[in-house]
Amino acid sequence: MSRIAIQDLKRWKQESHRWVCLTSYDAPSARVLAAAEVPVVLVGDSLGNVILGHGSTVPVTMDDMVRHTAAVRRGAPDLFVVGDMPFLAAQISDEEAVRNAGRLIQQGGADAVKLEGGGPRVSTVQRIVEAGIPVMGHLGLTPQNATQLGGYRVQGSDPQDALRIAEDARALEQAGAFAIVLECVPVELAATITRVATVPIIGIGAGPDVDAQVLVYHDLVGWSGDFKPRFVRRYARVEETMIEAVRSFQQDVARGDFPCESESFSGSQESTSAEDFPDDLQPEQERQTSG
Ligand code: KIV
Repeated sequence: MSRIAIQDLKRWKQESHRWVCLTSYDAPSARVLAAAEVPVVLVGDSLGNVILGHGSTVPVTMDDMVRHTAAVRRGAPDLFVVGDMPFLAAQISDEEAVRNAGRLIQQGGADAVKLEGGGPRVSTVQRIVEAGIPVMGHLGLTPQNATQLGGYRVQGSDPQDALRIAEDARALEQAGAFAIVLECVPVELAATITRVATVPIIGIGAGPDVDAQVLVYHDLVGWSGDFKPRFVRRYARVEETMIEAVRSFQQDVARGDFPCESESFSGSQESTSAEDFPDDLQPEQERQTSG
């Protein structure tokens, strides 16, 4: 599959062609997404929870994001890759935001960056776009400031909040964002924003009436322990398969069934015979009797 262009995403919206975006943080998962022909891959800062074992995305650094974005790029040279701007990468100054976005492009090999928030982030999005870097916005539940939002909960349930999110979506679009993630918002709000917006709206926990759906890869394939938010559908149970594989390996080793002949190397008798080894490499017992 050849790398999609931003214009393809716009066209898909006009044609009502629904598509998916999935997270990836490493080369092997990127390879899977490439083989499955996923058009857009997000190296999300969910990396913090999913891979690094943190309780939130807040500890994730620019160095983490650059390293993992580069790994995804190596695993999937032809996919459209979006690198996430982690906590504080864009909040200190617009100048720093442009520099950090540039790192994801130059060092990570990303095609675009994603930035959480509306309001004060809108002008930052505009600066990054003006620097020549495509930006994906992210509204609704923005995990980097979940504490301010009152936790990981649905956003935009009351009319005032809903209006603020809709206005932010319009402002991000005007600032040049090429797509917007809407996370954990009511179905009706997502549908309204999708209808009005000219850029693709990518939902997660935002119901079916959006242009595209994004999920965390590990949630989709069943590799996230007991964590299963309401908006996730599991399409496989790879964690159980992997545990079973590791158990089988342990049993085979205990029984002496691993490795078998075809899994072992055989050298010439002369070079591998213990008798030809010097004294200090002879088995303990034989050394004692021969001495
Ligand atoms: O970090 C992430 O993975 C995300 C997606 C869930 C949208 O922001």
